[in-house]
Amino acid sequence: MQTHILTADDIDRVVALLKNGELVIVPTETVYGLGVRCDREEAVDRIFRVKGRPQDNPLIVHVSSIDMADRYAYVDEFAERLFTRFAPGPLSLVLPARDTVAVNVRAGLPTVAIRIPGHPLTRRIIEQADVGLAAPSANQSGRPSPTTASSALSEMKGRVSAVLDGGPCELGIESTVLVVEQRIPRILRPGRVTMEEICDCLSCPNPLYRKQSAAETLTSVNEAAASPGTRHVHYRPDAEVIAVESVSSIRSVRVDSKRDCMFCMNAKLAAVFRLRGGDQAGLRYATDVQTYEFNLYEWFFEAERSGYTRIFVELPPESPTTQGLRDRIFRASGSV
Ligand code: TXA
Ligand code: MG
Repeated sequence: MQTHILTADDIDRVVALLKNGELVIVPTETVYGLGVRCDREEAVDRIFRVKGRPQDNPLIVHVSSIDMADRYAYVDEFAERLFTRFAPGPLSLVLPARDTVAVNVRAGLPTVAIRIPGHPLTRRIIEQADVGLAAPSANQSGRPSPTTASSALSEMKGRVSAVLDGGPCELGIESTVLVVEQRIPRILRPGRVTMEEICDCLSCPNPLYRKQSAAETLTSVNEAAASPGTRHVHYRPDAEVIAVESVSSIRSVRVDSKRDCMFCMNAKLAAVFRLRGGDQAGLRYATDVQTYEFNLYEWFFEAERSGYTRIFVELPPESPTTQGLRDRIFRASGSV
């Protein structure tokens, strides 16, 4: 199959392909998504095959408005409040599903995750096609999510009809996945929208208030959530990822400048990496959390292409705004 690279000028073509049940990679503000209409089981099946995705891991349905969300799920008062505040944006809500969503989209569950993406091009496509798009991240299952059209193309070339280039994704890690049960919000996957903001929007107490260690928080959030996707390997490049919590954890490491690279925010870590034998060329430095998030997956792909086999990745200090980034680094390193 030839994969066409399309741009904003080709929207009509993208709409026609999607209406026809074909797979098209589309930009979102978080990561690139592998889109297909969410109401045809045989079309959705191809997503699982092309990604090598386990059948028990459900997909997020992308819609262009709250009205359209209500076509595929029962939008209750909480969901309406959350969408009004955070959509379009990086928040996916797990809601009771209507039978308009193909059963394999939700992996047989009675619920479906719904999101209104922030990228205007993709919202326009959904609106014009007048159908929700089931769209997982556009990577082979278990690997980092592409945040540029060219990385998405290298993951999926020859397996999808087209890639719509909408530029680099603004945020760089996937949406927060949230469920509200008995009026209590639970984060199934941390992202840019934090529990603090969610509780503020719903005027409810923060259920994560009890102080826990970072690993404990992430494990308990994910275990309690029983989000199907969290059981599987995720975000891993073809190199060993080593999460680095502090300078002392790499003080005694012997760095090989050909094999090893490092991503960090802390200048001291960069200095120790070089002192231990690391090369400047293998160093990727972010000045703040947003930039780190924006670059993380692209740096993984770059490190793979450059042939590095070990990646030391700094865990940014724990705070509400670093939960998403810490979760992805923990998982990429296999420590959750
Ligand atoms: O930012 C994003 O969310 C990106 C862009 C493309 O929108 N999409 C994305 O999709 O990350 P995916 O398939 O890679 O991850 C979807 C996550 C998985 O962890 C899955 O288990 C969870 O959402 N999920 C989907 N439906 C669910 C449901 N009904 N109940 C619980 N978790 C669900
Ligand atoms: Mg994914």
